[in-house]
Amino acid sequence: MVKKRVLSGIRANDRLHLGNYLGAIQGMFALQEDSDYETFYFVADLHSINVNYDPKKFQENVRHVVLDYLAAGLDPEKSTLFIQSHIPEHVELAYLFSSVMTVARMQHLPTYKEKVKNNPKNVNMALLYYPVLMAADILTYKANAVPVGDDQLPHLEVAREVARKMNEKYGTDFPEPEQFKTEGHYVPSLTGEGKMSKSVPGSFINLTDDLSIIKKKLASSPTDSGKGDKVPEKGGVANLLMLVEIFQGKDKRGEYEKQYTSTGIQYGQLKEDLAKAIYAELKPIQEKRKKLEKDTEYIDKVIEEGGKKAKKIAKKTLKEVKIKMGLV
Ligand code: ADP
Ligand code: TRP
Repeated sequence: MVKKRVLSGIRANDRLHLGNYLGAIQGMFALQEDSDYETFYFVADLHSINVNYDPKKFQENVRHVVLDYLAAGLDPEKSTLFIQSHIPEHVELAYLFSSVMTVARMQHLPTYKEKVKNNPKNVNMALLYYPVLMAADILTYKANAVPVGDDQLPHLEVAREVARKMNEKYGTDFPEPEQFKTEGHYVPSLTGEGKMSKSVPGSFINLTDDLSIIKKKLASSPTDSGKGDKVPEKGGVANLLMLVEIFQGKDKRGEYEKQYTSTGIQYGQLKEDLAKAIYAELKPIQEKRKKLEKDTEYIDKVIEEGGKKAKKIAKKTLKEVKIKMGLV
């Protein structure tokens, strides 16, 4: 049987948080453990340079992502793990793909508009190119499934469009990739507004946070009087209940919902219990990470071996595309 291909990546701008873990890494792990799939996971370093960053610290950040991957259970014996920029074929393919996409289409993406709004002084070309490079990441390996959170859906749509257009225009055989959804495909922000994101201060819990930091972060999450006719559907309380459901289950959430419309919720206790549940999930990952941190040689080897495997496939796809496009 031909295995289905899976590909996903995470940028290297900051330390990973619960949203990255639940929305992306858990899906990456689930598919790695399923023998119907062949899995490719990478650090999206080229996707990290469209914002201001510190080149001196960058390699350290890239390594942090590799460590988080391994600590969370990604296994180089089962998955191909690599660094995006080690496979320059992605960039070449992105350029070739850019010829079938319009500038207007890229400018209308919500992710692009948001970046322009938040950082009007640094609207660089790499930002506009972001989804095309992401399409190249995926299509290089002809991946069918992409474990990412919901915020990446507009980018996935671009990848599907690139696949369709390339197939129609040049007769390539790219599959149209689809999201692989995890239970935590939308992890809410601790600020009570929107999703947990590393670019929103106070919104996230890092994978490396200890119990006291988790408690502190939850403590500053906004709540209300704890009582009312109707459980809020938006805001701090709604987000806390979403986290309760993710980490303590639906029944626990149900209990709190009942309390809200009767005796009232004690948020101090809720946050305390939630912090413990979150930490219980993170503790084994942190322990594994500590051991791995010391073994730099092993990490180097993982990256090198994964890169070799990825390169072989990338070269083949690039050649196919160049032939179809009449470039060779
Ligand atoms: P951030 O928004 O914090 O900058 P990234 O864009 O680097 O995170 O996301 C890396 C991966 O983690 C992507 O697959 C993304 O969909 C997923 N992800 C990020 N935040 C969340 C979240 N709050 N809920 C679910 N998945 C998320
Ligand atoms: N854009 C993704 C993010 O911000 C990272 C990424 C780059 C990616 N290329 C990818 C994810 C290919 C999945 C597949 O998180």
